[in-house]
Amino acid sequence: MKNNIDWNNLGFGYMKTDWRYFSNYKNGSWDEGHLTIDENIVLNECACVLQYAQTCFEGLKAYRTVDDKVVCFRPDMNAKRMADTAERLEMPPFPQDRFVEAVCSVVKKNVDWVPPFGSGATLYIRPYMFGSDAIMGVKPANEYQFRVFTSPVGPYFKGGAKPITLRIPDFDRAAPLGTGHVKAGLNYAMSLHAIVDAHKKGFNENMYLDSGTRTKIEETGGANIIFVTKDGKVVTPKSNTILPSITRRSLMYVAEHYLGLNTEEREVYKEELNDFAECALCGTAAVLSPVGKIYDHGVEINLPSGMEKMGEITHKLYETLTGIQMGKIEPPEGWIKVIC
Ligand code: PLP
Ligand code: COI
Repeated sequence: MKNNIDWNNLGFGYMKTDWRYFSNYKNGSWDEGHLTIDENIVLNECACVLQYAQTCFEGLKAYRTVDDKVVCFRPDMNAKRMADTAERLEMPPFPQDRFVEAVCSVVKKNVDWVPPFGSGATLYIRPYMFGSDAIMGVKPANEYQFRVFTSPVGPYFKGGAKPITLRIPDFDRAAPLGTGHVKAGLNYAMSLHAIVDAHKKGFNENMYLDSGTRTKIEETGGANIIFVTKDGKVVTPKSNTILPSITRRSLMYVAEHYLGLNTEEREVYKEELNDFAECALCGTAAVLSPVGKIYDHGVEINLPSGMEKMGEITHKLYETLTGIQMGKIEPPEGWIKVIC
């Protein structure tokens, strides 16, 4: 393990590790792919990704477990979602089995960068893909590059388990028939102004509404949302314009099958926000970040779980999910991929 890193105090940022993977698509097929130490990419000035944002990405993590194995969590789900995204963006999907192999090979090569068990840090894995040849008219590229790099990371929100504050913005993230349900770079480009504005005003993130009616809760810029009702039911918004979070789908399973809780995926109206007992953001980067307060145009909604600590059910979900990821709790079949 690298010995000059303060694992316990890492933030969520890029740190160059030793190895990364790339494969090129040309003349209708993907080449065999290679590992490289070169972190730089040289592109034509008119590359489709630079002009028309033809790019998508994934995010997953490698964990060092209690018995010192290195594992990752449901990489097949990221492979599938990236293939779905690629299709929506008119990109050639990278073969899903090769996606998982590429992820595992990069982690294995960077094994010294996987943070120690118990440090609170993990190795973030970023697969991505972009149109690489020169394209002038608005159309998809002919050539693509798929890459995977890694970076050790700490909590996405400073303070980790400390509740955060969201605000309902006057900006939308996804159009009703747009790309909100896939992991396209463009979804994040359009959230940049909203996040800068939220931070300027003292909020941690934006809680987006459905742009069709602006009455329903969708998700934040980088995570899905779960709520807990006062009678202990775990509720998550149902919408076809939010990203199908792997963390959220896993948490709903854990809630039902490990914790015996009732769960519901349904439309959640803004008017209901006052009725919930707990709220949290969920995602690979966010893990499960408790929300203490939601600000809606001058009206403050204070979650009964408060601004000091995670709500009780959020905490149970967090402990169970991270316990599964860190090898402390028996996982459902197929959830944990042992790398080495
Ligand atoms: N929603 C958005 C917009 C995201 O960027 C992410 C992060 O990947 C998520 C939700 C959470 O998805 P997952 O749990 O698969 O990481
Ligand atoms: C992730 O959770 O992996 C993401 O891609 C979210 C991103 C905003 C950091």
